[in-house]
Amino acid sequence: MIPHVGTGQTVAKIILLGEHSVVYGYPAIALPMHSLKMTARVEPVRGGHNEGTLTGLGWSGPISKAPAHFASILRAREVAAEFVGDPDGLLSITTESEFPAQRGLGSSAAAAGAVIRAVLNAYDAKATAHEIFTLTQEAETIAHGQPSGLDAVTTSATSPVHFQAGRTTDLGLPLDAWIVIADSGIHGSTRETVGHVRSLYENSFRETQESLSRLGKIAEGAVDNLRSSDISQLGIKMTESHGILADLGVSTVQLDELVYAALDAGALGGKLTGGGGGGCVIALAHSYEDAQRISDAMREAGARATWTQAPLLNEVVA
Ligand code: PMV
Repeated sequence: MIPHVGTGQTVAKIILLGEHSVVYGYPAIALPMHSLKMTARVEPVRGGHNEGTLTGLGWSGPISKAPAHFASILRAREVAAEFVGDPDGLLSITTESEFPAQRGLGSSAAAAGAVIRAVLNAYDAKATAHEIFTLTQEAETIAHGQPSGLDAVTTSATSPVHFQAGRTTDLGLPLDAWIVIADSGIHGSTRETVGHVRSLYENSFRETQESLSRLGKIAEGAVDNLRSSDISQLGIKMTESHGILADLGVSTVQLDELVYAALDAGALGGKLTGGGGGGCVIALAHSYEDAQRISDAMREAGARATWTQAPLLNEVVA
């Protein structure tokens, strides 16, 4: 079949509760950020000697010259082309992101998922959510070795996602609150912070185990708060989690300052999100006005950028 121009879209993700403890089998809750979109466009290559181009993350050039960090996007195109039955089909790819890469917002899974959807669209091919997830995971394996699957699911989810021991469940619950994300501007290495917690776990087992277990209990308890729309309790749980993560040594002075600034400005709660050691902070707010005030306060406290996400209400199943 002859492909046409195809497009695909996914979104950023945040971990609301449960980072690090999730590595030890405790539950985590992640949220899709529908206001931060990742878009991919693929276009069939015309002309015999043209191999196709790749454009994204401020780079553009022939596909064979793409830098190493594009490997998962190229793999995404490849696995999707195999899926639609045209493994040798040549497509140029363009990705556009409304959020930065390498800040714990799920950029690589979002890009892979968007490219896969764009290829499917270019061939008018249908795939189930599970098939798209499997293809995204194949691409993600190039970028992350053994991805848990949380990013691949959440970057195309419509509601909060519960994740535990490799099992992901779309909770189908609303979140009647505003979320402000603040970028510290510092690249956090998840590999390093995960390694740091691992060494604590091995060297100070009892205390570390207690902290991880507490983080897990907090995340599990938050499901009830989501169910009853008790966002004040959710906020308290976020701030408590941040304290535990800071005690575990995965926060930084900048992240702590962003959390304090958000709380001083009236946030219901605030915490780092993702691996830490840099990256982003999230804060929970009652209203748009509160979210604006919190966003301004976090910028004053040094955030390089902030984004505000409206309540996750309409998209979810009642
Ligand atoms: O930095 P992110 O968004 O990839 O999140 C990492 C979450 C951790 O729990 C720290 C690690 C993991 O594999 O779950």
